[in-house]
Amino acid sequence: MVTPSLRLREVTKSFPAPDDPLRQRLVLDGITISLTTGELVSLVGPSGCGKSTLLRLIAGLEVPDSGELMIGSEAITGPSAERGLVFQDPNLFPWLTVRRNIEAGLVARGLLQERRDDVGEFMSLVGLEAFGNAYPHHLSGGMAQRVALARALINHPKVLLLDEPLGALDAFTRMRMQDEVLRLWSARRSTTLLVTHDIDEAIYMSDRIVIMTARPGTIDRIIPVTLDRPRDRSSSEFLQLRGEILELLHFAGGATPETILTARVASA
Ligand SMILES: Nc1ncnc2c1ncn2[C@@H]1O[C@H](COP(=O)(O)OP(=O)(O)O)[C@@H](O)[C@H]1O
Ligand SMILES: [Mg+2]
Repeated sequence: MVTPSLRLREVTKSFPAPDDPLRQRLVLDGITISLTTGELVSLVGPSGCGKSTLLRLIAGLEVPDSGELMIGSEAITGPSAERGLVFQDPNLFPWLTVRRNIEAGLVARGLLQERRDDVGEFMSLVGLEAFGNAYPHHLSGGMAQRVALARALINHPKVLLLDEPLGALDAFTRMRMQDEVLRLWSARRSTTLLVTHDIDEAIYMSDRIVIMTARPGTIDRIIPVTLDRPRDRSSSEFLQLRGEILELLHFAGGATPETILTARVASA
């Protein structure tokens, strides 16, 4: 059996309730999932179901109430460069050039001397070699997000955590960037967990799609996507899968107790 590169077992997390900070409110309830090395898995679920919290737990920025988070055979105990996190907002340092933004992590870890050659390599990997001296305010949204990706990838992360990284881009740039992320992923083969609200993006990109329930987030189901890559967004298999997932999400996310009751009565 292949050793999973990322393994979560019965992970539970609560936060103080917004209306009563003395009370804890369960946000994630018993999350169990394994990703094999090089796998790309999407996480889809209603707003507030704990997707970002799950990524922050894996990044080591939050501590679970209970459960186990492992990278290979090591428990996650805090942040590490081996787990790269990219957000919707590229969060670049506006006072640093593209090159310096990409170098920043290496500088912070005292590795720039040793790894200086990597910087050029990663700038060309994301197609920004001509923009090394540009500042973030000169970049389009897609280019800024490529800098953020290069900055995460330069650490050779074992696990890449993408929290709606393309969510702020217009539809065309977004589709182009999906291909870009897939190209980077197949070049680097980092195990990748991608949070997205976009079902088409999840089907287009992932090996498996994890559908979560509304808060407290649990794993509702995991859907393997076996379509050949590059995928055709207008193929009948693609559209059929899309229809099935949208239906599932309607029940996972949009269902109130009344609608669930009606559905049960209707199917009884
Ligand atoms: N640091 C925090 N303190 C208190 N509540 C939090 C904190 N982080 C997240 N939450 C709450 O946890 C729930 C899940 O949030 P989040 O993981 O951001 O959901 P998602 O990314 O799926 O939209 C939300 O109700 C949010 O308000
Ligand atoms: Mg989120």
